[in-house]
Amino acid sequence: MASGTPRTTLWELDPHTKAKHDILRQYLAGWFPVLSTYHGRVVFLDGFAGPGRYKNGEPGSPLIALSTLLDHSYFPRMKGCEFLFIFCEQGRDRADNLKEEIQRFADERGGDWPSNVKISIKNNEFEQTAQDILETLKTQKAQLAPTFAFVDPFGVTGLPMDLLADLLSFNRCELFVNYIVNTAVRFATSGQIDDRFRELYGTEDFLKAEGLQGQARLQFLHDLYERQLKERCGFDYVQSFGMMNNTGNIIYYLFYGTRNTKGLQLMKDAMWRVDAGGGYTFSDRLAGQDILFTEGDLVSEPLRAALLDKFAGRTVLVDELEGYVLVHTPYRPAHLRKYALSPLEKAGAISVDRPGRSGFPAGRTRITFRPA
Ligand SMILES: C[S@@+](CC[C@H](N)C(=O)[O-])C[C@H]1O[C@@H](n2cnc3c(N)ncnc32)[C@H](O)[C@@H]1O
Repeated sequence: MASGTPRTTLWELDPHTKAKHDILRQYLAGWFPVLSTYHGRVVFLDGFAGPGRYKNGEPGSPLIALSTLLDHSYFPRMKGCEFLFIFCEQGRDRADNLKEEIQRFADERGGDWPSNVKISIKNNEFEQTAQDILETLKTQKAQLAPTFAFVDPFGVTGLPMDLLADLLSFNRCELFVNYIVNTAVRFATSGQIDDRFRELYGTEDFLKAEGLQGQARLQFLHDLYERQLKERCGFDYVQSFGMMNNTGNIIYYLFYGTRNTKGLQLMKDAMWRVDAGGGYTFSDRLAGQDILFTEGDLVSEPLRAALLDKFAGRTVLVDELEGYVLVHTPYRPAHLRKYALSPLEKAGAISVDRPGRSGFPAGRTRITFRPA
């Protein structure tokens, strides 16, 4: 158990937890409609679900996921899809509290519960729940339906990399995991909990943090987890987001893994909404403060420079530029036209072959970059 782990059934909501919930809510608001359009069943698996509410009544991740779906303006058009919510919580008291909260949530909706939304609450360890799911799939010779797995522990135990890899090996499965990096920074080379780290990373390479200090040590342990999510779990795209406490230290990273560029786009959009500075971090110290810059101030110059550097002398479809921005830069495709292409065209740095008189329509706009 990490230090500072609450022992009471409920605990207070920190600003960084609220930020985590904002990312989750924002992402699911995009994920549910997209997935339900193409699939007959989708799963939201909350592996470390918590008690359902925080001490002052704020909703926890299970209620956030449920209300994001049920209150979605598109929900009436998602009737053709079955949504299965699996909430797994090890603590007996917290699992009981969660059951009560979900019952209350359903009652408040006047008993009119949609027949395509199913809930399963497991008072169990995540590892056991995941193994049970795998066992059932094996028996049924079935594949896991498209799944968003939210894995949100207090510490570094109970989320083995090998298990995540087995569970989420199917194409449309995604992971949003809370990697408590400050425990790794403190103990990775102490020899005290090596077995736990072997499980967490699925490799012994954490031992190579030996001798590294400060930012270099943090970065090494960040990059190691990212590498393992790509190599062991087979996620093509991984995006992290750092959470700082009020002393300005990163306490954990949320890592998102997917094989799908639409998912990556939704998650980058969600993360930018929480950190409008585009640094993929949130700090408790800055919570609630006014932002002193515009998105354009931050994005325009570096994005233009990145494009000029990468595409100098080439002619490309605007779609290729969107893909590049999404996968290879910290920016979002939504930034491309307004903050890069329009100013570059005005400055004469690109010429544009477009179907109409203005804009950069996808599929039909070719951009020629001046040679370097
Ligand atoms: C960080 S809290 C989860 C918060 C919740 N996801 C939310 O956002 O509202 C972690 C929860 O995992 C539970 N837990 C601890 N070990 C577990 C395990 N091995 N499997 C499942 N749940 C566990 C704890 O009791 C605690 O409620």
